[in-house]
Amino acid sequence: MPHYQPIVARSRAFSDIMSLAQRVASSSCAVLITGESGTGKELIARTIHDSSPARTGRYVPINVAAIPDDLVESELFGHARGAFTGADQERLGAFRVADRGTLLLDEIGELPLYTQPKLLRVLEQHEVLPVGSDTPVDVDTRVIAATSCDLDELVAHRRFRPDLLFRLNVVQIAIPPLRERPEDIPVLAEYYCRHYGQALDKPAISISSGAMQCLLRHRWNGNVRELAHTLERAVLLCDGDSIQVNHLPDGLNGCAGINRENLHEAVESFKRQHIVSMLEAVGGDRQEAARRLGLSPATLFRYIDKYGLKGYALERYH
Ligand SMILES: Nc1ncnc2c1ncn2[C@@H]1O[C@H](COP(=O)(O)OP(=O)(O)OP(=O)(O)O)[C@@H](O)[C@H]1O
Ligand SMILES: [Mg+2]
Repeated sequence: MPHYQPIVARSRAFSDIMSLAQRVASSSCAVLITGESGTGKELIARTIHDSSPARTGRYVPINVAAIPDDLVESELFGHARGAFTGADQERLGAFRVADRGTLLLDEIGELPLYTQPKLLRVLEQHEVLPVGSDTPVDVDTRVIAATSCDLDELVAHRRFRPDLLFRLNVVQIAIPPLRERPEDIPVLAEYYCRHYGQALDKPAISISSGAMQCLLRHRWNGNVRELAHTLERAVLLCDGDSIQVNHLPDGLNGCAGINRENLHEAVESFKRQHIVSMLEAVGGDRQEAARRLGLSPATLFRYIDKYGLKGYALERYH
């Protein structure tokens, strides 16, 4: 992930996340970032590093799930030369590479159980013991852990140690799925439309309102990653000046999206999304939105309050 990826968001939920991230950046406390796949956990981890005193050190992201179990320890803590067959060279390990910097332990739930006490020890004592060595080495590494699974559940199933969870979870940043912050969908879609428009030499492409309606109604189980891919594909397929419904994948263009909501929830999410798109259409002008929706301004204001759309309406209102 290039670290110049700007964070694009408009929802209240995400601005709360950003201010929490800024606040934890100034300390060196452990942070646990949770959220479904594609919600931006790595982006937030990188942001914390970039605004923390550790930014002068290295940022080392490690995907724990991608390391074979028997190599996890040497990847994290390093190994001495000759520690095991194939260890021809000494290896520093991620903690020492990220010394005075930040180590992201992504998919921490995949850490083998027998390695967990060793990680806990490193976090508590600020020293690592490389595999095959008996000399501990001091480290000053800021640790951020991320997970898309429920660690409490892993603890309940004895697959994750509660003491390690406690140690990692000093501050938790929980990123809500995209479908729970629909105000972010239009700004993200427009951003990725511009981004891929430039990359694919179609800089003037926009998103038709029909296509935007579909984007707003989709469930986005793959969150922002899925949205970005959807826009990349749409820009690629689009041969006119705006993205139409037929440039969206099948699951989206019927606005079908499998929906497990009960009727009341479905009506509520439809109302919320409809108000979001109306506010979007009128540039945040509440009087005009109320008029077009056939509501009194006071009723619309109540909805804006209820659905947390205040920032959204205000930002565009001049
Ligand atoms: N708010 C955002 N603004 C712009 N791009 C975003 C935002 N959130 C996520 N993305 C983009 O979506 C993609 C997925 O984000 P990221 O890799 O941070 O997710 P993740 O939560 O780590 O996912 P996974 O659990 O699958 O690793 C990246 O390309 C990232 O740049
Ligand atoms: Mg990730």
